[in-house]
Amino acid sequence: MSITTIVGGQWGDEGKGKIIDHLAESASVIARYSGGNNAGHTIENEHGKFALHLVPCGISWPNTKNIIGSGTVIDPNVLIKEIEIINKSKLPGTIYISEKAHIIMPYHVILDELEEKFRGKNAVGTTGRGIGPAYSDKISRSGIRMVELLSPDSMIEKTLKILKIKNEIIQKIYDGEKINEKEIINTIHIWAKNLSSYISNTEEIINKSINNKENIILEGAQGALLDIDHGTYPYVTSSNSIAGGSLTGLGIGSKDISNVYGVFKAFTTRVGEGPFPTEIFGKDADNIRKIAGEFGATTGRPRRIGWFDAVAAKYSAQINGLDSIILTKLDILDNWDEIKICISYELNGKKLSNFPTDEKILNKVNPIYENIEGWEESTFNLDSFEKINENAKKFLNRLEEILELPINVISTGPKRESTIIRQKL
Ligand code: IMP
Repeated sequence: MSITTIVGGQWGDEGKGKIIDHLAESASVIARYSGGNNAGHTIENEHGKFALHLVPCGISWPNTKNIIGSGTVIDPNVLIKEIEIINKSKLPGTIYISEKAHIIMPYHVILDELEEKFRGKNAVGTTGRGIGPAYSDKISRSGIRMVELLSPDSMIEKTLKILKIKNEIIQKIYDGEKINEKEIINTIHIWAKNLSSYISNTEEIINKSINNKENIILEGAQGALLDIDHGTYPYVTSSNSIAGGSLTGLGIGSKDISNVYGVFKAFTTRVGEGPFPTEIFGKDADNIRKIAGEFGATTGRPRRIGWFDAVAAKYSAQINGLDSIILTKLDILDNWDEIKICISYELNGKKLSNFPTDEKILNKVNPIYENIEGWEESTFNLDSFEKINENAKKFLNRLEEILELPINVISTGPKRESTIIRQKL
């Protein structure tokens, strides 16, 4: 039995979906603990290729319970579409939605856009999916939860009261367009009809599995550096994406967690605004973006590209309590004669080896690089460590040395089988 948290180690998009789809073969529960449909987890297996935004990545395996936990926020319109695709494609896992997960209401989506516009040059670069406004309402205790879909009439009554205030804000502060009451009433009936049967007491399901000593995967979304408390605030998402979020986001105890694995790309990407010390531009960035297909799975936005940042990675390892590293997209660096790893930062002639909290400082630091000789040989689709070129091994060994953590899994392509498992998880 093991309970393993899989968390994004960087700014999201590390390839968690592919890894979870691989590891879920031996799991009975795969439970997503934070975020909403700002995430896009791509999996590619014998059933096809899917970009999952809410449903956990164990869905392709039979006998898996795929839980969307209490720490998530759910846009029912998106979830209904996702479930339709899953059912059409006959993906065999079952889906459970936490009663406690908060709903992204249509006014949250509108307010996300309006608030971003209002921020002007300080915009966060949100995905525009209503994530921030939905979490804000959760914290200010004016949110609506999935359980309320089980009694649509009282949900409608509550929603219409909230809508009055939201419409005032939309119209009077942001000069936006009012949301129609009738439309929202119809929408709630559609949501209730389509989703009620999935709404469950998911804490009970997961804790039962823990007691039965089953294998469980806790699925992170986004990445540690986008965490609301520990990320590069304010350029973050609105939830606890770090491993700690799995406890509150699923209702389980810390003593139950066996392992925390951090997923990192062999380089770094970031979408949206905010500091990014190892960012590269021009042809080099374009090349990596093109080869790696670094465009947002949710918004299609081109991702910003940079070298591996070991200062940020060490910080991430600390705040997540990582046991080991899962390294993805190694093959993307195949054609480089020299690979860079940022080992420290420099500011005004002083070396910084810690990850600064103040975004103004993080914006100014210069990355200090260690150069590693490239391997200039394909690692694409390799499935055994022995087959990897010696220079690529040196790169991996050096990362392990710097991060003081083992790299237990290496991903060499988007397909499930393009995975090197160095140590069984
Ligand atoms: P929000 O989560 O839509 O509010 O966006 C806040 C910030 O997090 C923006 O910079 C987004 O680009 C970023 N973000 C949110 N979700 C993801 C993700 O799944 N991958 C990468 N970046 C994300």
